[in-house]
Amino acid sequence: MDSRSPARIAWTVGSLSAVAAAVALHFMADLSAGRTVALAVVVFAAAFGSCRWLVKRFVQERVELIHRTVHEARSGHGAPDKAAGDALSAVDREVGAWAEEKRREVAELRERERFRREFIGNLAHELRTPIFSIQGYILTLLEGGLEDPKVNRSFLQRAGAGTERMIRIVEDLDVIARLESGVMGVQAVRMDLKAAVDGALAELAKPAGVRGIRLRNEVRDECWVQADRDRVAQVLSNLVGNAIHYGKENGTCAVQAFDLGDQVLVEVADDGPGIAAEHLSRLFERFYRVGQSRARNEGGSGLGLAIVKHIVESHGGTITVRSTVGEGTTFAFTLPKAR
Ligand SMILES: Nc1ncnc2c1ncn2[C@@H]1O[C@H](COP(=O)(O)OP(=O)(O)O)[C@@H](O)[C@H]1O
Ligand SMILES: [Mg+2]
Repeated sequence: MDSRSPARIAWTVGSLSAVAAAVALHFMADLSAGRTVALAVVVFAAAFGSCRWLVKRFVQERVELIHRTVHEARSGHGAPDKAAGDALSAVDREVGAWAEEKRREVAELRERERFRREFIGNLAHELRTPIFSIQGYILTLLEGGLEDPKVNRSFLQRAGAGTERMIRIVEDLDVIARLESGVMGVQAVRMDLKAAVDGALAELAKPAGVRGIRLRNEVRDECWVQADRDRVAQVLSNLVGNAIHYGKENGTCAVQAFDLGDQVLVEVADDGPGIAAEHLSRLFERFYRVGQSRARNEGGSGLGLAIVKHIVESHGGTITVRSTVGEGTTFAFTLPKAR
C-alpha cells in the first residue's frame, strides 16, 4: 500500500491516536489493562473511520477530479482508467507525463522555429546576390552603358545570367515544397537503372567535356529498380552535376550499382578535391555549401543535395556520403529493387 493512500493515512492516524489515548489514560486515570485495550480499540476505530471519511471526502474526490481534468486535457477524451494504486500517485504520474510531453513539444516547436528563421535568412541571402548583380548591371546601362557598344551587350547577358540563377533557386524551392507537401508523389515503375544512368550522363556530356571530365557508366546490364523515372533522373543529374562542378579538371566520375538483397546501392564517385569531414554531416541541408564553392559554382542553388535526399527518402531509401580530401567523394544511395 502506498504511504499516501487514504487507508494508510487513516491507519497511521488511528494507531497513533489509540496509542496516545491508551498510554495517557492508563497512567493518568489508572485504567486496568483490559479497559485500556478496549479504549484503544474504540479510539482506533473512531479515528480510523473519521480520518478515512475526511480524506475521502475532502482530498481524494478532489484529487480524482483533478486527475480526470488532467487526463482529459492530455488525451482529449474520456475518464482515466481507475487508478492502480491511489489517486494521489496516479495524478502525480499523469501530471509528470504531461509535463514531459509538453516539454518535448515546446522543444520541437522551438527547433522548427529556429529552422524556419534560418531558412528564411538563407533564402534572403541567396536571392540578394543575383538581385544586386542584376540591379548593378541595369544601373550601369542606364547611366550611359547602353550607348557604349563595348559593354551594353555583355552587361545585358550578365543581368540575364542573374535572372536565370534566381529562376533556378525558385524552381528548386518549388520542387522541395512540392516534395514536402506530397503533391509530387512517387510514381514507381520497374525501370532499367543502366539506361537511366546513360540518359543522365548523356545530358551532362557537354559540361563534362568543358572540364575534361570522363563520365563512366559501370552499372551492369539488367539492373532493375522500382522507382520514379523523372525523380531518379533528377537525383543522378544532381550528383553527377556536382561531380563535374566540384571535381578536378580532367578527372573521372563513375556510377556503379551493387546488389543489397531487396535494395540496390547506387554509387556516384569522383576523384576530385574531396570534402573535409566536418562538412559531411551538414551537406544535405538546404543552402549548405562548403567554403568557397559558392564562388566556384555561381550556377548552383545550394538546394541540389537537399532535393536528392528528399527524393531518395520518398522512395524509402537512404543516402550517405564519404569523402577523403585530395582523393575524391562518393555519394551512395539505395533504391528498391524491382520485383
Ligand atoms: N562531388 C563533390 N565534390 C566536392 N564537393 C561537393 C560535391 N558535391 C557537393 N559538394 C559540396 O556540397 C555543396 C552542396 O551541393 P548542392 O546541394 O548540390 O548545392 P550546389 O551544387 O548548388 O552548391 C556544394 O556547394 C559543394 O560545396
Ligand atoms: Mg549541386
